[in-house]
Amino acid sequence: MSSFPSTRLRRLRRTGVLRSLVRETELSLDDVLMPLFVVPGQGIVRPLAGLPGIVQYSVDELCREAAGLQRLGIPGILLFGLPEEKDDVGSGAYADDGIVQRALRALRREVPGLLLLTDVCLCEYTAHGHCGVIRDGDVDNDPTLDLLARTAVSHAAAGADIVCPSDMMDGRIAALRRGLDGAGHPGIPIVSYAAKYASAFYGPFREAAESTPAFGDRRSYQLDPANVREALRECALDLEEGADVLMVKPALPYLDVIRAVRDRFDAPVWAYNVSGEYAMVKSAAAGGWIDERQAALETLVGIKRAGAEVILTYWAKELAAWL
Ligand code: PBG
Repeated sequence: MSSFPSTRLRRLRRTGVLRSLVRETELSLDDVLMPLFVVPGQGIVRPLAGLPGIVQYSVDELCREAAGLQRLGIPGILLFGLPEEKDDVGSGAYADDGIVQRALRALRREVPGLLLLTDVCLCEYTAHGHCGVIRDGDVDNDPTLDLLARTAVSHAAAGADIVCPSDMMDGRIAALRRGLDGAGHPGIPIVSYAAKYASAFYGPFREAAESTPAFGDRRSYQLDPANVREALRECALDLEEGADVLMVKPALPYLDVIRAVRDRFDAPVWAYNVSGEYAMVKSAAAGGWIDERQAALETLVGIKRAGAEVILTYWAKELAAWL
């Protein structure tokens, strides 16, 4: 073992070219997906206070934006929809002419080749804002499964390439797989938000998706932030039920979870760099306390270094300019 002075690690850090030759983790536009919010109406581009730079689009504007993202080289988008009306059973989530279904048909036609992913959940569609149907003041697991499966099937029928269940009900991956296969969509992959935590970092998203629970919180279905072994059990079950990809969410406070999932399983591992993680950097940058580009690149490379192959991030579009 040689040590100082024969070993000098600074030798390989001397110039940018050298640093790039020995770089272990590379950020690429091929590995990011952009979340987008779609709302009813026409000609709507509505900024969101909590998510600077992110807006709600009507379907026509969404198609324009998606085409622009495709030209920039972003491989795909993750769609969230806000329905005209909400009810107790989230009917808008699985309606044939629901907002996401309409968006998918338009995108399929106008932006061919762009990968279309959908978030499968009821919380944007229920009047109470929870991710399933309510009984005795809590989300009732089993009756919710059928509604989630119907949602996934209707997304696939409208042109989704990949469905991403984010509800955290037990048994949902099996329910979705059965539903998709039964409806003639055996080729549609399921990206499971397998390790999804009950997190404060979803704050700005809930404004964007208008999905704040009207009572209580999501701790009876999302993971406790203190647990990693339980997250691994969720992942193992989801793989057994037929998940194609495992996702960890949020990303930054859970880098150890990403690493643990990467080391334990051979399936692809993705991470969701959520709204609060983005908003923190944005607001610090707006205050002049942090360099947004550097902080964002450091955040994203950190998530990759932890073991995520693909990152869902609100920075995807800006990344195209930065890289
Ligand atoms: C819906 C859902 C949420 C997010 C993605 N899908 C919010 C939640 O569970 O309350 C959060 C995304 C973000 O914060 O960027 N179930």
